[in-house]
Amino acid sequence: MGYNRSRQIPLLLLITLLLRHHCFFFLLFPPPSTTAATTTAGSYYNINDQDATALLQLKAHITTTSTSSSSSSNHTLDSLFQNWTSAAATDVCNSWAGVSCGRRHRRVISLNLASMGLQGTLPPHLGNLSFLLSLDLSGNLLHGDLPNELSKLTRLKIINLSNNLFQGSIPPSLGALSGLKVLNLEANRLSGGIPTSVFNISSLERLELAHNRLSGGLPDDMCNQLGKIEVLNVSSNHLEGRIPSRLRHCTSLQNLTFASNWLTGPIPRSIANLTALKLLSLAYTNLTGEIPVEIGQLERLEILMMQNNGLSGAITPAIFNISTLQELDLSENKFSGTLPQNLFIPAQNLRKLKFHGNQVSGQIPASIGNCSMIKEFRIRNNNMTGKSIFIILVLASLMFLGGHSPKNYIIYYPYICQ
Ligand SMILES: *[C@@H]1O[C@H](CO)[C@@H](O)[C@H](O)[C@H]1NC(C)=O
Ligand SMILES: *[C@@H]1O[C@H](CO)[C@@H](O)[C@H](O)[C@H]1NC(C)=O
Ligand SMILES: *[C@@H]1O[C@H](CO)[C@@H](O)[C@H](O)[C@H]1NC(C)=O
Ligand SMILES: *[C@@H]1O[C@H](CO)[C@@H](O)[C@H](O)[C@H]1NC(C)=O
Ligand SMILES: *[C@@H]1O[C@H](CO)[C@@H](O)[C@H](O)[C@H]1NC(C)=O
Ligand SMILES: *[C@@H]1O[C@H](CO)[C@@H](O)[C@H](O)[C@H]1NC(C)=O
Ligand SMILES: *[C@@H]1O[C@H](CO)[C@@H](O)[C@H](O)[C@H]1NC(C)=O
Ligand SMILES: *[C@@H]1O[C@H](CO)[C@@H](O)[C@H](O)[C@H]1NC(C)=O
Ligand SMILES: *[C@@H]1O[C@H](CO)[C@@H](O)[C@H](O)[C@H]1NC(C)=O
Ligand SMILES: *[C@@H]1O[C@H](CO)[C@@H](O)[C@H](O)[C@H]1NC(C)=O
Ligand SMILES: *[C@@H]1O[C@H](CO)[C@@H](O)[C@H](O)[C@H]1NC(C)=O
Repeated sequence: MGYNRSRQIPLLLLITLLLRHHCFFFLLFPPPSTTAATTTAGSYYNINDQDATALLQLKAHITTTSTSSSSSSNHTLDSLFQNWTSAAATDVCNSWAGVSCGRRHRRVISLNLASMGLQGTLPPHLGNLSFLLSLDLSGNLLHGDLPNELSKLTRLKIINLSNNLFQGSIPPSLGALSGLKVLNLEANRLSGGIPTSVFNISSLERLELAHNRLSGGLPDDMCNQLGKIEVLNVSSNHLEGRIPSRLRHCTSLQNLTFASNWLTGPIPRSIANLTALKLLSLAYTNLTGEIPVEIGQLERLEILMMQNNGLSGAITPAIFNISTLQELDLSENKFSGTLPQNLFIPAQNLRKLKFHGNQVSGQIPASIGNCSMIKEFRIRNNNMTGKSIFIILVLASLMFLGGHSPKNYIIYYPYICQ
């Protein structure tokens, strides 16, 4: 006890002295608003130099800006990077364009240089911005490989490098970013397979890889860790193989787009496990087989695109049981059979229905007259009859039942009247 007390007194003294000294010091040299490098607290204060160094390396790799590439930008490299200098390194957080820092630790947490017409490459030094939460360099003309060192940024929540000219493959090491919510690499020139490690990032909410040159297959268990994913868009790539058959863990998935790939095989029945789906696009792939009847279980589905495939069999009436459905495109497939006469009654929100380019026969369901929201209906190139009844009913519903003026609608008369 006595020992403790005797230790407390010098400690208090020391603190008082320190405080005085501190105030005195501040009077002489007001603290810089950016870095508090004078304190001994936390060795990371000086690491701000590390952020400045990394950003200066990035600047050194940007070769030019092009004003013509993006409408919103009109600046030269010099004006954008005016304050990106080693002389202003202590001012990273306050005056460097596109940079923001954490309030407390004064480390760079966000780098946003979207749509600045930037050309050049990404240096590995970006991996030194160790507090970075958000990286948005989208809409530029950046090229080269994505640096492996991005995987060192373990705090990252958002990566948006979309709409650039990046090439090479997606670094498998990105799978280490265990807090990542958004990975948007769409509209680049990335090739190779989608690393399976990416499907291991259980925090992912948006995975957007459309418009690249990605190849290979999708792992059957790709959903196992993706319980939070809301948007999965891999359209316009060269993906092959089948649609994964075990999808039930993607319980939050709202928008799923496999369109414009080289997929083959059937639509798996387990697609019905994706009960949060609002938009499903399987268009322009090479799918075959019938539409599984289970699709009727997708009670929130608004848009269903399956055009330009090799799908066959009857168009399952279960589709029209989805009352939320607004848009249905089944055109250019090999569907046959007839449509049920009470077809559209549950699907009262249906605005667009296209199934031209199939072999559907029989009467056009008279019940389509109840489909008062419909504004686009294409059935050309089928074997259907009863068109005149159809026209009268549609026009009647448009003008009277629906309460909408027909001029608000595009009706494709050539297809209806042929
Ligand atoms: C860009 O800036 C230059 C001069 O600063 C100006 O003459 C030109 O009209 C601007 N262009 C656009 C598209 O704003
Ligand atoms: C550079 O810093 C000055 C002073 O803080 C500021 O007024 C200016 O807007 C900054 N330039 C850019 C391009 O951000
Ligand atoms: C930053 O990263 C580069 C390349 O990854 C490395 O060589 C360098 O030592 C790092 N610099 C600092 C200050 O950490
Ligand atoms: C990514 O950038 C693109 C282009 O700037 C933008 O349209 C999109 O909203 C961004 N996406 C995300 C998820 O940040
Ligand atoms: C996915 O994560 C598990 C453990 O969380 C690990 O065992 C596995 O190797 C990872 N797979 C890939 C492809 O990274
Ligand atoms: C998927 O990405 C492509 C390319 O950006 C875009 O055109 C399309 O609208 C996206 N689909 C969905 C459902 O978000
Ligand atoms: C899904 O796609 C639709 C249509 O493109 C869009 O309106 C909606 O915002 C998307 N949902 C999400 C969660 O991005
Ligand atoms: C997909 O279908 C198209 C047109 O039928 C065909 O030319 C192409 O070879 C098919 N691709 C694959 C991978 O099956
Ligand atoms: C998933 O779909 C399969 C096939 O339709 C079905 O047997 C299974 O019960 C579904 N699981 C869940 C959780 O809905
Ligand atoms: C449509 O839904 C009703 C009511 O839920 C159900 O009885 C019927 O079997 C369904 N029809 C189809 C074709 O799935
Ligand atoms: C239109 O719908 C009503 C009720 O929803 C139904 O009684 C009627 O028979 C339907 N008309 C046609 C032509 O299907």
